[in-house]
Amino acid sequence: MSSIVSFSSSALGLTLRLPESGMPEILAFGAAGESEAPLIERSSRINGMDAAVPSCVLLPTGGMGFFGWPAISGHRDGSDFLLHFSGWSATRGDNSLTLSARDGVARIAIAITLNAHEGGLISSRVTLTNDGESAYQLDRCMAGSFATTGADLLVEHTTGMWGREFQTRRDVIGQGLWSQESRRGRTSHDRVPMLFVESGGERFGVALGFSGNHQIVIDSCDDGRRLVHLGELFEPGEMRLAPGDTYESPVAYAGSDSAAFHAFLREELVPWPEGGMRPRPVTLNTWEGNYFDHKMDSLKAQATAAAEIGIERFVLDDGWFGRRDDDTTSLGDWDIDPTKYPDGLAPLVDHVTGLGMEFGIWFEPEMINPVSELYKAHPDWVLQVEGRPLLLSRNQLVLDLSRPEVSDHLFCKIDAVLRAHAVAYIKWDMNRDLTHVGGRKGRAMTARQTRAVYALMERIRKAHPAVEIESCASGGGRVDFGVLAQTHRVWTSDCTDALERLEIQRGASAFLPPELLGSHVSASPNHQTGRILSLSFRALVAMAYHFGVELNPLEMSAAEREELGGYIATHKRLRSLLHAPGAAFRLDPVDGRHVWGAASADRIAVIVAQGPQMVAEQPAPLRLPAAATRFGGRWRIASHSPQAPEFIRSSQAQRDLLAGAVSFDLANLTSAGLPLPMLRPESALLLELEPITGDPTHG
Ligand code: GLA
Repeated sequence: MSSIVSFSSSALGLTLRLPESGMPEILAFGAAGESEAPLIERSSRINGMDAAVPSCVLLPTGGMGFFGWPAISGHRDGSDFLLHFSGWSATRGDNSLTLSARDGVARIAIAITLNAHEGGLISSRVTLTNDGESAYQLDRCMAGSFATTGADLLVEHTTGMWGREFQTRRDVIGQGLWSQESRRGRTSHDRVPMLFVESGGERFGVALGFSGNHQIVIDSCDDGRRLVHLGELFEPGEMRLAPGDTYESPVAYAGSDSAAFHAFLREELVPWPEGGMRPRPVTLNTWEGNYFDHKMDSLKAQATAAAEIGIERFVLDDGWFGRRDDDTTSLGDWDIDPTKYPDGLAPLVDHVTGLGMEFGIWFEPEMINPVSELYKAHPDWVLQVEGRPLLLSRNQLVLDLSRPEVSDHLFCKIDAVLRAHAVAYIKWDMNRDLTHVGGRKGRAMTARQTRAVYALMERIRKAHPAVEIESCASGGGRVDFGVLAQTHRVWTSDCTDALERLEIQRGASAFLPPELLGSHVSASPNHQTGRILSLSFRALVAMAYHFGVELNPLEMSAAEREELGGYIATHKRLRSLLHAPGAAFRLDPVDGRHVWGAASADRIAVIVAQGPQMVAEQPAPLRLPAAATRFGGRWRIASHSPQAPEFIRSSQAQRDLLAGAVSFDLANLTSAGLPLPMLRPESALLLELEPITGDPTHG
């Protein structure tokens, strides 16, 4: 007998039919309350089979009347290529539902665990156990399947490359199969496992919690709906389950909108020391201001100048270890360079902490340069496939972290630096894609490597529970819901050009809340693009995120330092609003104008940034989303920054509005909108709105 089970979070609901045999049929999935089972049975003769074989199911398996893309497949040396589970049972836990079944012929047991999370997310993960007597070759096992209503489907995803991450693309896909596969061994810059789907007025997002090889497949069902599958991608032969072995998939998430994913990351996934996020410290990162040229006196003076303008965390980037004068040597040699630091790092760390700042330090633990002491001692520690050339990328190879002696060595090296110094933060970098990912037995092992990296991060966090970690991978190459279970912020992109950052940060914000996205004010001309941009534009574009500075403050004039100090003070004043749960909002860019901000009952911060020159004669009034104006009452513009905004032209009425002389109903900003003047290209404006005190309508 089949049975119906329902599962819901605060925002999403799922109704399933557990069949006598086969996979759980998705009767409904969508906004909670709208996901009950259909009123009447639909045609049972789906797929042309005489007995009903539903095609919209969780994790379909092939070969038994399901003709779509199988989400789970494998075999035992060529046989047992069919999987057909039966005997389904449902077990409820706190916010969870586990569906279990077994295939007695192939001798594989399955458990699908659904969880409800903060923000109304629903997650899915799968375990498969080989209870047969021979090895089972698992070719594929997705972590979860979510259903859309079908018809033309809009897929909103991001793509890009180094320095151009998170470029938003909207593709309408018709019938057939859409697939995104990444084989880079890291999340990647180009195929990010996070996207939104939209169809028939319904929209939801999906994200995979995994940083290794991954895939998202959208398939058409015979009943007109679509299945969105997310999971790990195995190389041939990679996932072989010995008798008794269990495969555990990563976690796949579905959420109703960006705010839901933000809430989940902020309140549940990110492993904040002491259980909750504290105000994000304004950071100076030394990379673009120094590169490999570390000079103690200068670094100390930079730290002093940084502290004077309000910086709270000083991060020493690449170049402090081995003989690391450029990127050709020393990865793997995590001992302090005695030529640059004859008395060790302590004098610098003490200087930084003496100024009241936190000290952070860069590591790239997974990597090794062939020119290094470590490689001389252990050439066999690198990922390699016998008889194949070692392929370098940025002059480096990758260590096999699945070997306990390698992970132990790295742990001891990192631990020693952290024990000897007051380190509050690690910038954990990963500057190459994985190739020839073979272990000692010559088998593919990206799956094991990825899990070993997480385990090393976790071990370091356990040993140093107060330390925060940033996930960096040539900029934003490892940004996903797997690594964010181990880390506390991401380096969004190596491109620090504020104009480029508009799109990069917009794309990343679809899934990540602003406080997890590192955003730094860097020098002008910009080191990546050569573009010259005003300090106010650079600072305001970074303002809402995890704000920082990526330049040598000694190379700024006193006036520039003072101006930057002003923006740092503004950020500190506003960060509790900008990073408050549920406060952030963002508009789709129109005519080169990007708008984002945060709203609370007593203050709304709006950042308006103009990228390229507008085409229109006048900008359309700026309409804030209803969520930002829900507080009601009469408000006014209390302040704006910079003091003299770069407008192309403005009327007296607009100047009065900006000066706070005009009050308005807040709700009016959603209907009529704020008639702002036109900004010059490559300039920005921060508006702070306040309710009019004593206004009886403001509750
Ligand atoms: C990568 C990072 C940069 C910097 C360099 C150091 O490119 O993304 O921020 O840390 O490595 O080599």
